Amino acid sequence: MHENRTLIRGDNLEEMRKFPDACIDLIATDPPFNSKRDYFVPYRDEHGKQPDALVKAFTDTWAWGDAAEDTCKSLIVEEGGQIGATIQGLQQFLNETPMMAYLVMMAARIVEMHRLLKDTGSLYLHCDPSASHYLKIVLDAIFGISQFQNEIIWNYHRFSRNSGRRFARMNDIIFFYSKGNKNTFNFQYAERRKSSVEEKGWDTVVDKGVKKLLIYDMEKVQQAGIDFERYDKVVTTKKLDPAMGQVWSDIQFLNSQAKERTGYPTQKPVALYKRIVAASSNEGDLVLDPFCGCGTTLMAAEELGRQWIGIDLTYLATGAVKHQIEKFFPQLRDSVIVSGTPEDTDTALALARRDPAGFEEWCVTHVLKFKSNAKKVADGGIDGLYTFPIGKIKGRQAYGKMVAQVKGGGYTLSQIRDFRTAMQNAKADLGVFVVTRKPTRGMLDEVRRAGTYQIDAGGFTVSMPCLQIYQIQDYFTGILPKLPFGDRQLL
Ligand SMILES: C[S@@+](CC[C@H](N)C(=O)[O-])C[C@H]1O[C@@H](n2cnc3c(N)ncnc32)[C@H](O)[C@@H]1O
Repeated sequence: MHENRTLIRGDNLEEMRKFPDACIDLIATDPPFNSKRDYFVPYRDEHGKQPDALVKAFTDTWAWGDAAEDTCKSLIVEEGGQIGATIQGLQQFLNETPMMAYLVMMAARIVEMHRLLKDTGSLYLHCDPSASHYLKIVLDAIFGISQFQNEIIWNYHRFSRNSGRRFARMNDIIFFYSKGNKNTFNFQYAERRKSSVEEKGWDTVVDKGVKKLLIYDMEKVQQAGIDFERYDKVVTTKKLDPAMGQVWSDIQFLNSQAKERTGYPTQKPVALYKRIVAASSNEGDLVLDPFCGCGTTLMAAEELGRQWIGIDLTYLATGAVKHQIEKFFPQLRDSVIVSGTPEDTDTALALARRDPAGFEEWCVTHVLKFKSNAKKVADGGIDGLYTFPIGKIKGRQAYGKMVAQVKGGGYTLSQIRDFRTAMQNAKADLGVFVVTRKPTRGMLDEVRRAGTYQIDAGGFTVSMPCLQIYQIQDYFTGILPKLPFGDRQLL
């Protein structure tokens, strides 16, 4: 079992299958919604105000294919029972559509989440109206209809212009299911608007000839120096705040100035997840978010003294969580365990051998923080791209272009020459060739022949090699390739 503060980079289905039964107190998670969009993360350089490059974070577009077909079969045949029957029924209606592919993907994972929860545990599943109606059927089948506790409407009041022939869509849905009937639950209260007398802290009344002092707030009574002897009766009175309902309108959408904002797309406010964590777990409990993104649930868990584990498919997300924890809990800098992502030269080289595409993604999005080239086939020899501001030309902001190619195995001089051609074809000013093995003298001559590039860095000129060969081993000694305007951080 993983330790507290573990971040796992990997597919949550595979990863959750490695967990033992009944080990988690609370799962609060926000999976992709089937929004049919790609989500990008803006990066900016350390001097720039505006995002200068977009890095693809994750894709929320689903298609029916072999993977969906296999998962669907295993849910019907191997899992069987209520969920098998439900999936069969949904398939008759939805056929082999993207929605069905999405639901099959979610169903397989919800089966695992249910297995991991303790009898006192709960699941909060964040979604939106695009698929919530189907997800509730899937949840009913896996948890049981009677375990449904709430459909929370998070009404976030985002400014929206009127568009289309309908009302503005300004809410998400969070389904709350408990595994058993003795689920941990700490009541939460909505804030009641206080009367001016309550704000004052005390009041006096005469009731049937009896002088009474009504105390709402003892501290304020003491501050006012009230003489208790003057009253026949002293009554301490407290009006209870009403129980929190299912419609949450008091938590705003993250605005562009919010301190916690990372720029990670779909990031949710910590306040929203703090309410969930406070309600359905106790101090020291273990909270899991298997679709953790930049770690909102994990931040809420940390703030409230819970233990946590996060899983995400991308290096970008695990990198963003680390960044957030280091920013808000600097004392925990060395306490976060990242698994499934190279932490030293040996694990990086092992990844390059085992999973060349994964190695490429890690180098491009995590090490270089470049935009990854989505066209995996016929990419023209370009794996990653970074556009950087180079000042104004004829009054308009101009950009330079840097491209990357990753070679996880051996490479030849002619491949470096091909990369130079690819740079020219892509009209790139700069190029970085990421490798795992030392270049030969002939290769370094080729680098010199590519020449240098001058960048105006706010009043002085910086000269950079047009082509660099970057050995990934350097990353673990803190050396990065020369990038325009230095190292780049998440927003
Ligand atoms: C909606 S985002 C979560 C955002 C998060 N609540 C936050 O505040 O940052 C969904 C996340 O699920 C991740 N994801 C998608 N499929 C996954 C899978 N099979 N295993 C693990 N993570 C996955 C995506 O990379 C993305 O970061």
